[in-house]
Amino acid sequence: MAESNLGQELRQEMEHLIGQLQESLSTVILGTDERIALPPESELALANFSEALPEKGCGARETIERLLDLNAVAGGNTGGPRCFHFVIGGSTPAALAADLLATAFETVTYTWLLSPVGVRMELQALDWLKEMLGLPREWTGVMVTGATMANFVCLAAARQWWGEQLGVDVSETGLSGMPQMPVLTSGFVHASTLKVMATQGVGRGNVQQFCRDDFGRLDLGAMEKALIELDGKPAVMIVNAGEVNAGEFDPVEDMINLARQHNCWVHVDGAFGLFARLSPRTAHFVEGAERADSATVDGHKWLNVPYDSGYAFVRDYNLLARAFRYSADYLPDENNDRPTMGAIGPESSRRGRSFAVWATIKAYGRDGHRRIVEHCLDIAQHFAEQVKQQDQLELMNDVQLNIVAFRYNPGNMSEADLDTLNERLGEAVLADGRFLVGTTKIGARTVFRPAFSNWRTRYSDVEEFADVVLEVAESLS
Ligand SMILES: Cc1ncc(COP(=O)(O)O)c(C=O)c1O
Repeated sequence: MAESNLGQELRQEMEHLIGQLQESLSTVILGTDERIALPPESELALANFSEALPEKGCGARETIERLLDLNAVAGGNTGGPRCFHFVIGGSTPAALAADLLATAFETVTYTWLLSPVGVRMELQALDWLKEMLGLPREWTGVMVTGATMANFVCLAAARQWWGEQLGVDVSETGLSGMPQMPVLTSGFVHASTLKVMATQGVGRGNVQQFCRDDFGRLDLGAMEKALIELDGKPAVMIVNAGEVNAGEFDPVEDMINLARQHNCWVHVDGAFGLFARLSPRTAHFVEGAERADSATVDGHKWLNVPYDSGYAFVRDYNLLARAFRYSADYLPDENNDRPTMGAIGPESSRRGRSFAVWATIKAYGRDGHRRIVEHCLDIAQHFAEQVKQQDQLELMNDVQLNIVAFRYNPGNMSEADLDTLNERLGEAVLADGRFLVGTTKIGARTVFRPAFSNWRTRYSDVEEFADVVLEVAESLS
């Protein structure tokens, strides 16, 4: 049978594409500061997006041109300096370059034999992260897609521990016939933890939140009472180190002290909050985290590596290995020298996420990353100053970290009307497109919650943000 021309055609196309790619990569990357945060009417721009399945296809050049055009009218500039939505970091130059290379090399890091260097970089970068964030050297880390999956991994290990405390290997026999696993936390718990509990047989409704106020701050006494009532039965405590509404922290030390008086697994969700450890200005918020049993850290937030990148750290390797055991005759055996990362985490197939993490720490070191964190702390304080200077803006939190909760308040309005106004304003600011930012509820109040986690954001960006909020508010009335 004659060989088809496909291979030759695609190789030639790849060669031609490289020139086009070089040009567009430099336009895209060097244009990040100036690109609009969210093109206005982007959904309208996609009105005619759907098309019939292409029978022949139009080739790579035209397809990539179309992709660039589409992104220009409907792509969020989430890596740009004026994206303050959710908690979204930028990418350092080294991280971005390394991540592009991980794609170019088509690296697979399921196990050492597919990319010895990809796996070594993962282990090295995880060791560096532990050192930077003050987590014990002996803990095992694994890279995943983000903090949701890191919570998934850590809480799977917690659930494994809990089952074994009751004499059951839940990874083998499941939860059938088991009592309810007690999960205790504050009102700062992140939605992703509830999602994880929903999928791990615990049920999101069974997560007990002990709150002393509308913000969701922990009622430690009530939590202690619940633990005493458990009378030594194993339980899981979730400490929220960095919450998304206003960047506050659960009392990490107090909670871990309490947990240690009872039979608790302590998990710290420090998706972005654990980075507070990098600066002497904020390290005290997470003191004691090293005495937990597991911790979640996100890379695409404050480490400033490209999406998607998160890290689960667990004290006891064996629990991870039992929870995520993955073996088959065609798969290699795991051993310490040649680890199979896909057998201690949920993903079997995994991309070369380690390249970017290794590269950014190698390129900038602990000091460079401390500077990124402190830059964002400064930006948050600078923005809080802008809010304070404007009569019609009201600061809603004491800014401790990188999130500033505030609202528009022109005066003489009821709380309910202010909430409605700020909801409308939130939508209008997003529709304006110059900034990507979200609102939330703190208690019953609707507030903006810009989160600053990107090295690219400048003082001028946040000054302009305050002006834009006021300008858009003016246009609403
Ligand atoms: C504290 C916390 N935990 C978990 C998550 C989920 O992270 P991801 O979206 O990376 O899965 C977030 C995201 O903002 C977070 O702030």
